Amino acid sequence: MSKMTITDLSNLEGKVVFVRVDFNVPLKNGEISDDNRIVAALPTINYLKNQGARVVLFSHLGKVDHKDSEKCAADKAKNDMKFVAPRLAALLNEEIVYIDETRGDKLTNAVKNLKNGQVLLMQNTRYEKGESKNDPELSAYWASLADAFVMDAFGSAHRAHASTYGVPELLNKEGKPTALGFLMQKEVEGLNRCVDITDDNRPFVAILGGAKVSDKILVVEKLIEKADKVIIGGAITCTFLKALGYPVGNSRYEADQLDFALKCVEEAKAKNKLVLPIDHVIANDFAMPIDVRVTDGVVIPDGFERLDIGPRTREYYAKILANAKTVFWNGPMGVFENPLFADGTISICETLTKLTKEKGTFTVIGGGDSAAAAAQFGYKEGFSHVSTGGGASLELIQNDGHLPGIDVIADK
Ligand code: 3PG
Repeated sequence: MSKMTITDLSNLEGKVVFVRVDFNVPLKNGEISDDNRIVAALPTINYLKNQGARVVLFSHLGKVDHKDSEKCAADKAKNDMKFVAPRLAALLNEEIVYIDETRGDKLTNAVKNLKNGQVLLMQNTRYEKGESKNDPELSAYWASLADAFVMDAFGSAHRAHASTYGVPELLNKEGKPTALGFLMQKEVEGLNRCVDITDDNRPFVAILGGAKVSDKILVVEKLIEKADKVIIGGAITCTFLKALGYPVGNSRYEADQLDFALKCVEEAKAKNKLVLPIDHVIANDFAMPIDVRVTDGVVIPDGFERLDIGPRTREYYAKILANAKTVFWNGPMGVFENPLFADGTISICETLTKLTKEKGTFTVIGGGDSAAAAAQFGYKEGFSHVSTGGGASLELIQNDGHLPGIDVIADK
């Protein structure tokens, strides 16, 4: 790796190391439903503790709307880092210092009073209006407290915010060390297998699903360029089918993405790359699916919506995947939250984990809902790499391995 990494940092004893983690975990009424991102940061935290560093953790949590004061107060109440602090302490199996502020004497003094090997977690960085704007004054304040910076928030590495970009940029200028943590290294190594595709790693097959083509335009273009096959599933199927002139019944599609979808299909057709479903699981209504059917072909009849790939498509996709050496998957094949429409997503999990085990195929899940599905159906451990960042992994691929939160870290 050309960037400084955590093990390149020396003499950490007594040093204040600011670690940008991604503790943006799903919360429901203050309860964490998935602590995977906290667990993923533990190797870096424990390493720094063992080196005798004074560890200051900072992260965003949810979104905070600073334009509307009522909304701002409600967002802050919902996304209070106090909900995360006890889980972190439990996972570390020790008390931590939790500071419910993002600046001021309380935080400054607590950082100064930290003992070697102790961990401090501060309040949600997005309580600060300047965080998302990469405000120089905010970055300067946080940087003034730090002797070194470690980036371990892969899920946020596509954001050039004060905590992910401004602080390390300033510390670099001051000649203080900046480095990537263990999670960042693992993510970059795993995902780079899908960026720098060598002939040995081909065929490279990408599977794209999910709801919106508009979220994926750049990555679709990039993958059509890089991959040997791009398999489509999920609700985005309907935008592609509509662009090709097929009826999609009551299914939702993005009217403003039809031109883009057609362009992709035409480009990919010339290279024989884009693969669309050949049948679907459909229902009269997603919320009240009384009439659930499998179509004969690609056409979705009036009065029905597409909710999963069909059985023939499952087999067809498994055949294409059987020859792959590298697979990148982002986006479920159907509305897997309902067992009636989960088979497509489960079949992708089954196929990919089997290939990993039996043929050594390198299989990567690009975060988000597909990672949640793999965990829910018990397949997560069978993949070669499951990213903790959905948006970040897509941007890393579309930007050929570059993200602001990686690029800002000092070179070796
Ligand atoms: C994520 O969950 O994708 C990351 O934590 C980034 O969050 P954001 O989209 O609110 O910046």
